[in-house]
Amino acid sequence: MILEAGRTTLRIHNFTTSFLASTMEKALSYTETHFDRFVNELKDFLRIPSVSTDPEHAADIRTAASWLADHLKNLGVERVDIMETDGHPIVYGEQLIDPSLPTILVYGHYDVQPPDPLDLWDSAPFEPVVKNGNLYARGSCDDKGQLFMHVKAAESYFKTAGHLPLNVKYIFEGEEEIGSSHLPPFMEANRELLSADVAVVSDTALFGNGVPSITYGLRGLAYVEITLQGPKIDLHSGVYGGAIENPINALAKMIADLHDENHRVTIDGFYDNVIELTDEERATFASLPFNADEWVAEVGASRSKTEAGYTALEGTTARPTLDCNGIWGGFTGEGAKTVLPARASVKISCRLVPGQTTDEITGKLKTHFEKYLPDTMKLTFTNLHGGEGGLVPTDSVAMRAASDAMEGVFGEKPYMIRCGGSIPVVADFKRILGQDTVLMGFGLDSDAIHSPNEHFGIDRFRQGIDSIIRFMHIYASSN
Ligand code: BES
Ligand code: MN
Ligand code: MN
Repeated sequence: MILEAGRTTLRIHNFTTSFLASTMEKALSYTETHFDRFVNELKDFLRIPSVSTDPEHAADIRTAASWLADHLKNLGVERVDIMETDGHPIVYGEQLIDPSLPTILVYGHYDVQPPDPLDLWDSAPFEPVVKNGNLYARGSCDDKGQLFMHVKAAESYFKTAGHLPLNVKYIFEGEEEIGSSHLPPFMEANRELLSADVAVVSDTALFGNGVPSITYGLRGLAYVEITLQGPKIDLHSGVYGGAIENPINALAKMIADLHDENHRVTIDGFYDNVIELTDEERATFASLPFNADEWVAEVGASRSKTEAGYTALEGTTARPTLDCNGIWGGFTGEGAKTVLPARASVKISCRLVPGQTTDEITGKLKTHFEKYLPDTMKLTFTNLHGGEGGLVPTDSVAMRAASDAMEGVFGEKPYMIRCGGSIPVVADFKRILGQDTVLMGFGLDSDAIHSPNEHFGIDRFRQGIDSIIRFMHIYASSN
């Protein structure tokens, strides 16, 4: 085929490049023409409540997987399989046109977070609506909308050139929001199937609306649950209060002691392995178009509070954190009940930065709680889940292609940024498959992912599809 010929002589290569360029233009204009239908199809996908954590939605997870698989098949993707795991299924697809061309592995997740609290949504979470240029629905941004950009970019090539400019493999999972526990074993068992030159993931955010950016760093996660037990049953606080220690009081004290006056985490060795930001990175962070006051005002906080010596931007993307995610115990119903509770519990998650590992920090948390546990309390420490963070190289062929692709769409070079969230599969791609990842995401921090009224800008859905179309062309021609 023409593409192979392009590798043999420069003259033909030039021809090939312009041939490719025109196929890219055709794909872009196909998107332009069919964009309204793309949005409607995404709405169909979003109507399926594929909430991975809730067993009541197990059938919906299956429906979403089949919907996606059928959609890929209908586009003409030659191989599409729903592959079973011990959890929710993986939708695998591939279109291999020429072994001499590069192969990308596109990852996304079709599962979504629960929509609760429902009463805070302005419209039903699984009845997508467009308002003021945004598509509102659970999963619109995280990650069904972003995953679907890849599907529609592929369609735009299929329906114009007949094929993509490179080889593509798709891996769409249904357990990202619950820790992807079955994905690493799936990768180990399917190394050959998943082998590719680079992984491409759209599940992150732009630095700002209209601000092109590519993520090169993600944080890891260590998530635990802790219960302190005092007396064996709830007691009358008048009869026993004053002589039997209260587990809520004890737990609250332990939690309060987890940060010092500099807002640093007090766990022994917590920062030991942290790879510090380089001066160059800090200078780049400082030059990003970020208005800390506006950013704080957006979330309704009075001011930011960071680890001493670091900016808010550094704090949210490149420094480790410890946050309580939920706390319960005793009487929380209406009115008053004078009780000295038997138990108090907390869920704690730490965001980790390169150098730290989930096992290391989970271990250090456990040691800390054992060490400072009052001798009146019994401790239950449960490791819920986690995942490694990491950095991807910014100077690879694929990263340059992604940068050029986004520049083509936005008219300016993208910033290289770090994201504070976690996508553990990125570290797994490296560890298990030896693949680097390109993180080309089009969300915004303000898209309310995991929150009520999650939304995705229709314009960003479009920018994403266009960037992916360009990326495939540029990456194919730069190999
Ligand atoms: N897409 C997010 C991760 C994300 C959010 C990256 C914002 C960049 C910016 C992903 O679906 C997610 O929610 N990940 C979880 C981790 C997982 C192990 C449950 C997270 O970050 O809490
Ligand atoms: Mn996601
Ligand atoms: Mn998520």
